[in-house]
Amino acid sequence: MIYKDLAKLELPPILKPGSEAKDWPQRRKELIELFSREEYGFSPPPPSFTGSKVLKSETGNSWAGKAEYREVELTVPTPKGDFSFPVDFVLPYSENVPLIIYLSFTKYPIGKYCPIEELIDGGYALATFCYDDVTEDKEDDFSSGLAAMFERRNDGTDWGKISMWAWAASRVMDYALTLDSIDKKRIFCAGHSRLGKTALWCGAQDERFAAAVSNNSGCSGAAVTREKTGERVEHITKSFPYWFCVNYKKYIGKEETMPFDQHQLVALLAPRPVYVASASEDLWAGPESEFLSCLAADEVYKLLGLEGLSHDGRYPEPGEFLHGGNIGYHLRSGPHFLSRYDWQMFMRFMDKHLL
Ligand code: GCU
Repeated sequence: MIYKDLAKLELPPILKPGSEAKDWPQRRKELIELFSREEYGFSPPPPSFTGSKVLKSETGNSWAGKAEYREVELTVPTPKGDFSFPVDFVLPYSENVPLIIYLSFTKYPIGKYCPIEELIDGGYALATFCYDDVTEDKEDDFSSGLAAMFERRNDGTDWGKISMWAWAASRVMDYALTLDSIDKKRIFCAGHSRLGKTALWCGAQDERFAAAVSNNSGCSGAAVTREKTGERVEHITKSFPYWFCVNYKKYIGKEETMPFDQHQLVALLAPRPVYVASASEDLWAGPESEFLSCLAADEVYKLLGLEGLSHDGRYPEPGEFLHGGNIGYHLRSGPHFLSRYDWQMFMRFMDKHLL
């Protein structure tokens, strides 16, 4: 299968003409500002501190004796007082363990999408929180959870809920950095679908994340918007306006005028590893458009002297994976889902690239 000609898409450039490696940190800042202003909204700066309280710790039989289960409540100061949310940790009895911060749709032990014991057996620790505990995934006029703790400016750039969930994942990182058994250089975030969009935006902004994984994240996630089939800006901003800042609506039906596109979001992970996973029947998300972002982001890794996407010029067949460079990609055969196959692929890639 041949993919669309990238040049014909006329994507906004990731790099400015004549860029050198030393220019990337400044360009990263500009792109984060652009995504904040036009798509996800501006996040507040990190809080002055992130407090923690261990609510529960289970050892003994927990996870077949292989790991501690720990429930922690994190608390941050906000303009309207303290805000707390629960986070669950599964911490293998081992040293220098890499950690996955998994943004979840459900509360621990998190149901169909997360095979906890397989992750432990793969050598990873897990931190997870339910996004609804941060702010509810519904149009509620920003009245729930973290959303209610900040005044809104109503200038089109106020943060949407994707930015809020991403900000919360960074608070989990604050706490993770205090854990003795965790390898602080190998902490990455991961999410599926709307939370895959969130994981990319989180990793893009917060360079303490060593990598980010987005599974089937599609529109406003990993997929290039220009000429995308399936979900478009029009659909997503009508069904889920509160995920974004108001400015994003300007681009309904005018995607070709956007001064940004999602390949730049994937590129914002550079020089760190980034993983994009697609599913062959997930036409709403747009697997080919997700792949195109990886292809386009490759130029930044090259500029930085690294291998980005290692590929042979073909769009992968279902079941193929590209793990040679720092941009990982696979096309799972089947529909929209976060499957055990996907997790196995993420671990395999991270084992190779998170060093
Ligand atoms: C909807 C939405 C997608 C999103 C998905 C999900 O399908 O249109 O953008 O990724 O929900 O989060 O499951």
